[in-house]
Amino acid sequence: MKMWSGRFKNDIDSRADAFNASLPFDKRLYKHDIMGSIAHCTMLGECGIIPQNEAETICAALSDIFFDIKNGKLAVCDAEDIHMFVEEKLTARVGDVGKKLHTARSRNDQVALDLRLYLRDSVDEINLLLRDLIKTIVDLAEQHTETIIPAYTHMQKAQPTTLAHHLMAYAEMFLRDAERFLDTRKRINIMPLGSGACTGTTFPINRKRVAELLDFDDVTHNALDGVSDRDYAIEYLTDVATVMMHLSRFNEEIIYWASDEFGYIGLDDRFSTGSSIMPQKKNPDMSELIRGKTGRCYGNLMRLLTVMKGLPLAYNKDMQEDKEAVFDAEDTVKACLEIFTAMLPTLRFHTDALETGAQGGFTAATDCADYLVRKGMPFREAHAVIGGLVLYCTEYGKDLSTLSLEEFKNYSTLFEADILNCVKIKNVVYARKIVGAPAPKAVSNEIKRIRKLLPRMFPEKSEEQ
Ligand code: ARG
Repeated sequence: MKMWSGRFKNDIDSRADAFNASLPFDKRLYKHDIMGSIAHCTMLGECGIIPQNEAETICAALSDIFFDIKNGKLAVCDAEDIHMFVEEKLTARVGDVGKKLHTARSRNDQVALDLRLYLRDSVDEINLLLRDLIKTIVDLAEQHTETIIPAYTHMQKAQPTTLAHHLMAYAEMFLRDAERFLDTRKRINIMPLGSGACTGTTFPINRKRVAELLDFDDVTHNALDGVSDRDYAIEYLTDVATVMMHLSRFNEEIIYWASDEFGYIGLDDRFSTGSSIMPQKKNPDMSELIRGKTGRCYGNLMRLLTVMKGLPLAYNKDMQEDKEAVFDAEDTVKACLEIFTAMLPTLRFHTDALETGAQGGFTAATDCADYLVRKGMPFREAHAVIGGLVLYCTEYGKDLSTLSLEEFKNYSTLFEADILNCVKIKNVVYARKIVGAPAPKAVSNEIKRIRKLLPRMFPEKSEEQ
């Protein structure tokens, strides 16, 4: 018998029942559902809406149900959804008193509350994984502030930089990702209970008290919106998609850097796989899977955006589809962050190949032009002169770093002996000292900055609840 079956003459068709059920996936919300119910019931007792002693009985039983589920003593099955499951177990344990829990509440505001509580924890968990990844990147960067590598634009060699500078670019991205989650958390952390089905309730409930008990920053201020809003879940999925996009770019680089053509990195046996037919193969499957799973996270974002786009106010059952999108995105991004953070320190960077790579492609050309500018030539003119010099090099199979002073002078009389030092790849890197540039000192400053920022952004949690 369904709790809502009073106005029905017949039982639900078993196929419709199964189709309608969300328990197989929303059982994941059991902790947050019970937390929410305990807060709601505590408030009902405090406000005298139900007798205090009954509220205490209900809360104690809810707490027992939580521990029984957690310890595997109570299997979560045979109910329409997690909200019905908990209430049915409650009533089975404490009798008719349990039937008072749902006073002044609807499943519509209940599910909104559960998802907000769940996502709030999830954001905190993902941010700890982001913190670990950023720390790992920064540690690795610290070892490579002087490892010279080529920087590319259009996949063509552009200018030399350092491995630390390259790695720290990703540290910046993941820091922004963590900030984005913290910002989304502000909008998640608003308490919707009291919205009822869609217009609140006639009972004199204390919504602020529930918010306080559950550590929310505020209550929602429109009951229709309180049960209809899934913006916070869409924002969460956007944040996940952005992390995945960054991970995917990083892994794309690892994949081709590990190719025979580039030969910039060697993959560790523990994080690569072989081929069933080609005995020589060592494949970057972890990186490829991360790149591939980015697609499913984008899909989850698109999935919820599409679910929501045509829905009139207020709650519609379509919205039950929100949970699997969110859970799948959460599982995927967590798994990717974990595996990548474990794999990253195992990569072997072939520093000689990287430096040789930085030598080729006339990567000191900008510095030659800048040299002439310092001697008084307008930049556009200098650009053209060095363009001619590069053309000369390509025609005669030469490199800027091996040209003689005479050859330089053939292109401009402003060149003097110090140009030969200026084009040395190491000097090209070290000359870029400004904030954000690759000179070892500049990158070390950023490493220090991020090291200081991390404990402030992610304060250690006092305890696990
Ligand atoms: N299982 C539902 C969901 O996930 C809970 C809310 C149901 N509300 C309702 N009026 N049927 O959205």
